[in-house]
Amino acid sequence: MSIRVIKVAPSILSADFSCLAREIKKVESARADMLHIDVMDGHFVPNITIGPVVVKYIRRVTKLPLDVHLMIEKPQNFIDDFVRAGSDMITVHIETMSLAQIKKQKSKLSKRNIKLGISLNPSTPLSRIKSVLNFVDFVLVMSVNPGFSGQMFIPAVLPKIKQLRSLFDGDISVDGGVNGKVAGRIIKAGANILACGSYIFAAKNTKLAIERIRNAR
Ligand code: DX5
Ligand code: ZN
Repeated sequence: MSIRVIKVAPSILSADFSCLAREIKKVESARADMLHIDVMDGHFVPNITIGPVVVKYIRRVTKLPLDVHLMIEKPQNFIDDFVRAGSDMITVHIETMSLAQIKKQKSKLSKRNIKLGISLNPSTPLSRIKSVLNFVDFVLVMSVNPGFSGQMFIPAVLPKIKQLRSLFDGDISVDGGVNGKVAGRIIKAGANILACGSYIFAAKNTKLAIERIRNAR
């Protein structure tokens, strides 16, 4: 049984953007641990979402840590902008960056006290991230093909999470298709941060939805 604190990161991609501040307050008062912000460029993934300007305004309405998930090509060209906008955690995809670039970004971000995470798509093997595990702060395991909220959790990633936990002692985040039903298996496999969009924002009782994920075993 895991003794790690389980954290829940609502993904605002499922929020109503016409009243984003209110949606953020809603998950904040329902005891979210951080906000997961999905940045997509229409190139790395087949969808376009938001950029640094939105992160800047989100920063003004919440004290929650901002966990910014970059699903974009050439993330190194944009990281500074997202840092200036107020990100606390930046996740880049192993499919988009070289080892040298990741190392360079890690040292820049460390100086500013910002955490760097590495993410991998469901079809990307763990072997691809082995060389970065000793210096990144966390790993974000994709449990859907990135691009959209509301997809089904891919159970084939569970053994990947388990294997990763045997290799890596830092935070393991899981993103995509998380709900009250699958959360227990994800936590048992060794993850301790659960990013979750549609299940939380569609819930009638937001606090209960977050608690169900946090307390699932
Ligand atoms: C998918 C995004 C996820 C997504 C999660 O590309 O990275 O963060 O918003 O949404 P749900 O929980 O609905 O799958
Ligand atoms: Zn995400």
